[in-house]
Amino acid sequence: MLSDITRHRIVPVVVCSDAGRAEALGEALVRGGLPIAEVTFRTAAAVATITALARRDDLLVGAGTVLSVEQVERAAEAGARFIVSPGLDADVVRRSQALGLDVLPGCVTPSEIMAARRLGISTVKFFPAGSYGGATTIAALSAPFGDVRFVPTGGVSLANLADYLGQKCIPAVGGSWMVPAAAIDAGDVDTIARLCAQAVAAAAAIEK
Ligand code: 3PG
Repeated sequence: MLSDITRHRIVPVVVCSDAGRAEALGEALVRGGLPIAEVTFRTAAAVATITALARRDDLLVGAGTVLSVEQVERAAEAGARFIVSPGLDADVVRRSQALGLDVLPGCVTPSEIMAARRLGISTVKFFPAGSYGGATTIAALSAPFGDVRFVPTGGVSLANLADYLGQKCIPAVGGSWMVPAAAIDAGDVDTIARLCAQAVAAAAAIEK
């Protein structure tokens, strides 16, 4: 359910180059109170990392940077429950839907949003958010598209979290700041758990 993704309000975007670190990562996310991960297909370890995280029943795992139908299928087989793509590809969306997976395609223009709506999508990723005008642009887009929800990623941080999560049309944001690659590589559970807890607390303090 999309609501399972958005109720966390923050989606950690994970770049993991060694699936052997997945266990520590899962432990850190759960301990930090942010039991959700978007594991990106930016490394060869993505499928194995998804497989390892999907073994936990207290954590929701999805796949990110999904660029092809083949990746949708590999992610689904590995246990991913949602699919995130940087852009809008109708085949990726349709295959995800056919497999019963939630899918967040990237849309930054009115035309892309209209194409996504035609595919039955009402929540889109807005990426790279900082480069496309951030919260100001999303607010402008939500005027004509009042029924569309946006999940911005790319340049989201504690410093601008309130600009995004303060908007009704933004149920959640994605970001990597609470899962630094160096901490994942080092199996540094304490650092990741601390950064997650800090992010959760910051989100909780933001009112719509
Ligand atoms: C993404 O893939 O969604 C972004 O690269 C995450 O962006 P960030 O590293 O700026 O948080």
